[in-house]
Amino acid sequence: MTDENTAPGQPATVENLLNENRLFPPPEDFKAKALYTDESIYAKALADPSAYWVSHAERLDWFEKWNQVLDWRPPFSRWFVGGKINACYNCLDRHINAGLGDRLAILWEGEPGDEQRLTYNDVFKAVNKFANGLKQLGVKKGDRIAIYMPMVPEAAYAMLACARLGAIHTVVFGGFSVDSLRDRINDAQAKVLITADGGWRRGKVVPLKDTADQAVAGCESIEHVVVIKRTENEILMQDGRDVWYDDLVASASESCAPEPMDSEDILFILYTSGTTGKPKGIIHTTGGYMTGVSATTRMVFDLHDEDIFWCTADVGWITGHSYIVYGPMANAATQVMYEGSPDYPERNRFWKIIEKYKVSKFYTAPTAIRAFMKWGVKWLEGCDLSSLKLLGTVGEPINPEAWIWYHKFIGAEKCPIVDTWWQTETGSIMISPLPGIVATKPGSATRPMPAISAKILNEVGEEIQVGGGFLAIDTPWPSMLRGIWGDEERYKSTYWGRWPDTYFPGDGVKRDSDGYLWLLGRVDDVMLVAGHNISTMEVESALVDHEAVAESAVVGVTDEVKGQAIGAFVILREGFDDSDEIRQQLMKHVAEKIGAIARPKTIIFTHDLPKTRSGKIMRRLLRDVAEGRALGDVTTLADPGVLNSLKEKYSDS
Ligand code: WT7
Repeated sequence: MTDENTAPGQPATVENLLNENRLFPPPEDFKAKALYTDESIYAKALADPSAYWVSHAERLDWFEKWNQVLDWRPPFSRWFVGGKINACYNCLDRHINAGLGDRLAILWEGEPGDEQRLTYNDVFKAVNKFANGLKQLGVKKGDRIAIYMPMVPEAAYAMLACARLGAIHTVVFGGFSVDSLRDRINDAQAKVLITADGGWRRGKVVPLKDTADQAVAGCESIEHVVVIKRTENEILMQDGRDVWYDDLVASASESCAPEPMDSEDILFILYTSGTTGKPKGIIHTTGGYMTGVSATTRMVFDLHDEDIFWCTADVGWITGHSYIVYGPMANAATQVMYEGSPDYPERNRFWKIIEKYKVSKFYTAPTAIRAFMKWGVKWLEGCDLSSLKLLGTVGEPINPEAWIWYHKFIGAEKCPIVDTWWQTETGSIMISPLPGIVATKPGSATRPMPAISAKILNEVGEEIQVGGGFLAIDTPWPSMLRGIWGDEERYKSTYWGRWPDTYFPGDGVKRDSDGYLWLLGRVDDVMLVAGHNISTMEVESALVDHEAVAESAVVGVTDEVKGQAIGAFVILREGFDDSDEIRQQLMKHVAEKIGAIARPKTIIFTHDLPKTRSGKIMRRLLRDVAEGRALGDVTTLADPGVLNSLKEKYSDS
């Protein structure tokens, strides 16, 4: 293997690639074809951010142009004020009008191996019919529509059909439980739920409709449930309420006029975990969000017409919204969409897909990369990955070892890696290298995107140049969240309460002496399990909901593959004895309440929890116990003896 980045005579082993200060400049042949190669883009955007954002907004079609780029009354922003636009129109009609109707939009592969190759024309027809079907069910502009789906093309159609009508979608990840789905539908007061009879995962059917039925039983706002047929799973259809998608669209017309939306009309709500048990309905609007995702998809992934893009996220997360549906489709990209698990039927499924569809731009999560590392390179044997040109990662900090593995074994040392930091709230990528310009460093997300003003601040808002602190963003950007659905106070206090007029993302960060940014993970009580946000409170509430549990404390514990795993400390009620059976029951209970991703990895039974004298649980100490570290400062503890007994228990478990 040749490597331009390796000094002569030095073999490219993981050890010698792994040098903190080693830079990986954009490979020459990549740079030669890259869309952005001129460093001056950063200075220009800084000098005139408004002109920068306008240049990206102008790549979209507007029914009416804006009369003001930004109206910023912290913490409320309005972008492209007075502009009229439709997100679905920009993802479909615009390309068809430009003669690209026959271009492939989605190369879909189901887990069992079935496939569909869909052109922009195909997607356009399906979305128009779906939108007309929803109209027949009474869906209008501003209505909320919940989507609870497997990774099938209809999930994207459903989102785009809502956008076409101006209805607000709220997608709930298909792995979420009855309670999680019900809470989200109720919070959003959704009128229609779109789901499927099931989806395939590791060779089994996930019974989405059964879960949906139980959830909807507690949702008065739901008038109809639309069901996509994906499996042969037997399901119940409730007369008058439930309707098969196939019947709904059978006679629907292929033409449905796109609703001209105000730039600031809501496009979607997406729930994310916060530091309390109640998830936050993050609001994104139309014009700014579309500008942000369309610009960043093109720039960060250096998207060319001939590219085959593949983002392995689920549409239930923001990554699926921004980098499967709206970003790639706004750029008329051709992309792979895959329904199932990476290890089914075997651990090389992703590599087989890359080979089959000749994927050139691949975007996945560090947790997946660490799983691939663990499974070993033997799974790469016989898979041709030579179509790859660029690799991306998102979801949590990537450890340098995983970065190097990705670079060496998946990218054959010729693909730039874009480590992209962003959030549900930011809507689009905020910190990431531009692959034709910025030299990368394993584990560093490098620098903010053009026109993004990211700073490092300490508790009192003083700026730190080199060293660690809190990440802060002190100027607005088009795809920023506009609020929390139904809770303006929480929006202000969660994101804008720490420093004046400055956004607080909740992440720690440090800058090294070369000016590179290193994201350090969450500083609040939000865990990142396999790149997904789960709050400690949410899991604690699920645990105390069980009859055996009196009190619990939950911490994120470092995990080799998932980044963090959930560690729970539980005090049982009188009359319940700790046993493996109860432990299993509690794990199951949490998975049922929230979803399988929230299942604790360990549960330690205890009679007491370390608390300050004011009664606040000291999670930092529990984390020390769970990770087997020397204990930090215990002087504020009401009863320091508690920890010793906990430590003993932990080493037995
Ligand atoms: C949190 C946001 C953005 C889509 C997926 C997660 C962490 C995300 C990175 C990265 C270090 C990262 C942060 C952030 N995060 N990307 N490249 N490096 N940390 O969306 O569920 O809203 O989670 O994910 O902690 O705050 P989300």
